[in-house]
Amino acid sequence: MLLKRLFAGILAVVISLSVYADQFINLHSPDGNMLLGINSRDNGDLIYRVFYKGKTVIAPSGLGFKLNVPAVSLLKFTLASADSSITDETWKPVWGEQSSIRNSYRQLLLKLNDKSGSGITINVVFRVFNDGVGFRYEFPKQDKLNHFVIGDELTQFGMNGDHKAFWIPGDYDTNEYGYYTSNLSKVDASGGGFAQEIHAKTFFDKNAVQTPLMMKSNEGLYINIHEAALVNYPAMNLVLDKSNFTFNAHLVPDAEGNKAYLQTPAVTPWRTIVVSDKATEILASKLILNLNEPSKIADPSWIKPQKMVGVWWEMHVGKSSWDYSGGQVGSQQATKVPHGANTANVKRYIDFAAKQGIEGILVEGWNTGWEDWFGQWKEDVFDFVTPYPDFDVNELSAYAKSKGVKIIMHHETSASTTNYERWMDTAYRFMKKYGYDAVKTGYVGRIIPRGEHHDGQWMIRHYERVAKKTADYHIMVDMHEPVRPTGMHRTYPNFLACEAARGNEFNAWSVGNMPDHETILPFTRLMGGPMDYTPGIFKIKMNYYNPEKKEQVHTTLTKQLALYVTMYSPLQMAADLPENYEAKMDAFQFIKDVAVDWDDTKVLDAEPGDYIIIARKAKGKDSWFMGAITDEMARNFVTSLNFLDAGKKYVAMIYRDADNASWNDNPEAYVIEKFIVDSKTKLKLKLASGGGTAVSLILATAEEARQLKKYK
Ligand code: NOJ
Ligand code: CA
Repeated sequence: MLLKRLFAGILAVVISLSVYADQFINLHSPDGNMLLGINSRDNGDLIYRVFYKGKTVIAPSGLGFKLNVPAVSLLKFTLASADSSITDETWKPVWGEQSSIRNSYRQLLLKLNDKSGSGITINVVFRVFNDGVGFRYEFPKQDKLNHFVIGDELTQFGMNGDHKAFWIPGDYDTNEYGYYTSNLSKVDASGGGFAQEIHAKTFFDKNAVQTPLMMKSNEGLYINIHEAALVNYPAMNLVLDKSNFTFNAHLVPDAEGNKAYLQTPAVTPWRTIVVSDKATEILASKLILNLNEPSKIADPSWIKPQKMVGVWWEMHVGKSSWDYSGGQVGSQQATKVPHGANTANVKRYIDFAAKQGIEGILVEGWNTGWEDWFGQWKEDVFDFVTPYPDFDVNELSAYAKSKGVKIIMHHETSASTTNYERWMDTAYRFMKKYGYDAVKTGYVGRIIPRGEHHDGQWMIRHYERVAKKTADYHIMVDMHEPVRPTGMHRTYPNFLACEAARGNEFNAWSVGNMPDHETILPFTRLMGGPMDYTPGIFKIKMNYYNPEKKEQVHTTLTKQLALYVTMYSPLQMAADLPENYEAKMDAFQFIKDVAVDWDDTKVLDAEPGDYIIIARKAKGKDSWFMGAITDEMARNFVTSLNFLDAGKKYVAMIYRDADNASWNDNPEAYVIEKFIVDSKTKLKLKLASGGGTAVSLILATAEEARQLKKYK
């Protein structure tokens, strides 16, 4: 009966809002494909459901809260009012995958009175987009509710079957797990799988997974669940009830076991459900960004998307150390190696960056504290302003300035957030004094204040404070080990990127990232924002550094190049050592050329866990860059270049796997080819096992158009 009534609603052309008392309200997306239905269970609990082109996306699912203070459950309501509105606007991000973004949705605002007699009123706001649904709760200012404590959020996401899912274990402290691919009935997060090398993890339920969660239904629907605008609230994990494939929201608790401390008026983050029958449209969705607040930075002219090199990978591969005394931390080796961040070595990177036109040089291990940072739960490790004796900050900042490049600051906090908060102003003033305008922060370890978690409300507030305070100082920021992002870079565009997932570094000193890893990340972690993945590793096998090492990067060399396009970020590292690039300058040319800010993006083909092909147009230029990657399967594609300007000729530089390349046997074998192409060209892509192709498409001069071979 209920279903029938809901489908009757699908036929309605105008927004139809019936009364809640009369059991249902529904709302369509602007294009009519998405349908939200609001209803109540027989017991009176409020429920919602979502359909896409008539197929169930969200089966009847609960909404509500259990408050600890005041002690009340908010599940059953009477409807005070239901209002709808339409928004269709276009806005311009400071940087991004495209230069303008359309925000078009229909909104439903439900004002609800708690039926249990508490006198509390809450609102639920739904926005129905062509590519999904977002909703959040609002607690308006009211006599019966001022300060309150959330015990549990009772939001559910009911799946309509045993979908295929790309998931990592639920956790309060880390998102650096390797991905699992299984049907929902087979989700078993116990043990955490690829988790051995993660320092601080707080795994809590074998049926728990993290968002962004990517799924595919038997009916061919791609469904992604995440959240947007996570501010002053804990992150949400999802606990699966396998009896009915329903996910229950599970918020990260604080040291007391409470979830969130709020005061009216207050709002929760948006719960997001991105849906399509095309995988490419999931990657193209801007729903999460659209649900974040506009930029709070009035003059963003100082914010610069950029590439960087770093005194960094050499520590991860065990060639040098962060610690002045040579003790190895990150790579877990007992043997002593030279200190990496010494003045002469940093100058070497500055020279390389200046020569190759790379804007930034990250330097880790420059400051005191590394001798004492790892694995302790110590409060005062770093002060962020005292260099080791062999790092001459005066000389290096003058040298970098003379070469026209910028040193990027590093603040490893060792997860002692209390200590970092005490030092932030002093540390940012120090940066300004020496001409640094970007900082990479890090939170390796268990959080201090003790008992708090990386993803709890206390830390969420901290990450926002860092974004805000760095903005006040005109500093760009890249956070490692923070909560998974939820689109905050729209509000604070100085927040260029973060890690918040298993980065390339795991390939240096652990079982690493499997060949499908980078075909999953854009469908999961990157839904919330750019990732500092640190691509560009040319020396694939770690036995190059030490014959005993078995670790390796699980890709070919040209797949590392393609990642600069498929893994969107306005901050991209050329992560390998200068000498490894100098040995292969023909391949490094792609890293030099590739843009980091874009006018337009075309997701040409994609399947989570299998392959991704993306083309992007460089901001303000007539150049395009393409990346195609595959998992462990070798694949062939034919890709039309019909996105190019008709009638114009482009020089295509194709960086591809050699015919005998593969990620495990022959990962560094590549071929570079140069042709004239145009919008009618059909490019044949041949990707090796674990491989990829990178292509630059740059407007041809008349001379080139005459001389170069036309692609056939
Ligand atoms: C973990 C970060 O992800 C990595 O990039 C950094 O080098 C180490 N922590 C040390 O801060
Ligand atoms: Ca990390």
